[in-house]
Amino acid sequence: MQEKTITKKTSFEQEVYEGLTAFPKYLSSKYFYDAIGDSLFQDIMAMPEYYLTDCEFAILQKHKSAITKAFSEDNAPFSLFELGAGDGKKTKILLKHFTENQIEFDYRPIDISQNALDQLQRSIQHELPKVVVNTIQGTYFDTLKDIAGEHSKKKVILFLGSNIGNLLHPQAIDFLRQLRAVIHEDDLIFMGFDQKKNPQTVLNAYNDDSGITEAFNKNILTRINKELDGNFDLDNYLHWEVYDPESGTAKSYLVAKQAQEVYIKKLELNITLDAWETIHTEISQKYDDKVVGWLAKEAGLKIHAQFSDDQTYYKNYIFKKE
Ligand code: AVI
Repeated sequence: MQEKTITKKTSFEQEVYEGLTAFPKYLSSKYFYDAIGDSLFQDIMAMPEYYLTDCEFAILQKHKSAITKAFSEDNAPFSLFELGAGDGKKTKILLKHFTENQIEFDYRPIDISQNALDQLQRSIQHELPKVVVNTIQGTYFDTLKDIAGEHSKKKVILFLGSNIGNLLHPQAIDFLRQLRAVIHEDDLIFMGFDQKKNPQTVLNAYNDDSGITEAFNKNILTRINKELDGNFDLDNYLHWEVYDPESGTAKSYLVAKQAQEVYIKKLELNITLDAWETIHTEISQKYDDKVVGWLAKEAGLKIHAQFSDDQTYYKNYIFKKE
């Protein structure tokens, strides 16, 4: 008798199956990020149209003294946790300022990629040797347990890059509630939120002529082809971005240019797409003070302070427990 091997589906396999058999079709932007996706995202952050990174950099540079004061006003030593630390380029502005001002803190960068964490640790040891760095590898959700388990020191949690904008409001509230659950009364959450602005500026940030964002969006199909043995023909899809200035939601799609069939061998899945059928891949939410205040309130948090760039394109908020 032949033995049947039952292999458990990974969440990538499960979610791809669910999204591509749903109507309308969708895929989750969290799967953009493999080594190629990470590198394309680095290229996006360097594009002139993608103002978010420059704005947050400018905010940290301009307001570093006020931010430091807000983090250390009770003179309590703190652990600075950073969710999705990446290359830490922006955070180093704060780390440098803290060390120059003899602030007592340690840095706990969290990232899914051990490789990114190793590189970050090495670069900090080199550039800011006085900073104590203890890395934590894992997803945000896994590592919340690690943060919750730390009781010895005040906590400041950083979540930069308007990464929260890739979540729908109910998911964002749920995420903020989870953060609230791991902090105490005097702890702080410091978070970046891209702001509503001229709709054309937003659209341009996600629709560059150089095709980098298109390649980033299509990388999810490349991953399905590579990892799940699919046969998507990338040339058959358009990258399409829309921005609704009323809701503040930018949405990315892949649009089929002609009717087509796709087979994904690992999922034993055949799908058909009609001409101009869409696959929704990402939301990038833009905010205003009212919406951020509402999200915070729903999560049992309150806005303690906020910092903005000169054009008010972007804001970083400090939240505390309500
Ligand atoms: C990571 N995240 C906040 C980016 C954003 O702006 O939504 C991802 C991105 N997608 C297209 N360009 C950048």
